Amino acid sequence: MISIEPATLAHAPALQTLFEDRDVTEHLAFPEPYPPGEMARYITTAIAGRQAGTRYVFAVIEPDGQPSGIALLKDVDARAGTGELGYAFGRAYWGGGRATAAADATAAFAFETLKLKTLRAVCGAMNLASLRVLAKLGFVEESRFDEVRTKWPEPRQQIVLRVRSFGYVPQMRPVTLTLGFDPSKLPPGVPLSAMRVLLTDPAGDTHDKSIWGKGTVDETVSFP
Ligand SMILES: CC(C)(COP(=O)(O)OP(=O)(O)OC[C@H]1O[C@@H](n2cnc3c(N)ncnc32)[C@H](O)[C@@H]1OP(=O)(O)O)[C@@H](O)C(=O)NCCC(=O)NCCS
Repeated sequence: MISIEPATLAHAPALQTLFEDRDVTEHLAFPEPYPPGEMARYITTAIAGRQAGTRYVFAVIEPDGQPSGIALLKDVDARAGTGELGYAFGRAYWGGGRATAAADATAAFAFETLKLKTLRAVCGAMNLASLRVLAKLGFVEESRFDEVRTKWPEPRQQIVLRVRSFGYVPQMRPVTLTLGFDPSKLPPGVPLSAMRVLLTDPAGDTHDKSIWGKGTVDETVSFP
């Protein structure tokens, strides 16, 4: 299971290597070729943005501790309740549901922690995998425009999508919780539903959950 954490300069070297692949930056505003030290510069700006409350960049971390990509909110305007979602992963990590999971955790952070009302996303019309990720989260197309970038031989159509907090479709985020004891061995009369725990999900949000033990030491709890 992946986790996401605020990006720091410790993540920069691994992410720099991933972003030097043109497949990763092809549809994005990032420069090509990706210049040496660019990720460190990007994260330094992101750290300042986090302090200002305008930009939240997360590193996506694999179970072995390696960063596999980023998920982010930019142009956050707390007063207006708006922000823009983005994400990108190293080529070797595509196709495993990571973007859906990381985008979902970041959207949950936006709506539940920052209390934003609307998220926007801008996605290339040819970027079908990303459009699918956004559709799963409830994003709907709002408008289109042609964008010119020197790295593209001709203008490319971009789609502007938006989701409101009430239209957001949270994805299942299963977490295995180790109870540390066998609930079937509880003394008679102890109501399992009374056993409440506070769990922290990958977005850093805490959830108050009732545990209905099925007689095993591990229980799987899904968010939200
Ligand atoms: C786009 C990107 C983030 C997707 O990451 P990912 O981890 O492969 O995404 P997921 O596995 O969570 O989901 C991809 C979905 O798109 C679908 N998909 C993949 N290729 C597709 C295609 N060519 N046409 C239609 N759907 C496609 C997958 O089947 C999956 O949908 P499903 O869960 O319903 O089966 C990844 O390719 C990437 O990092 N690209 C470079 C950066 C980028 O483009 N970022 C987005 C900017 S808007």
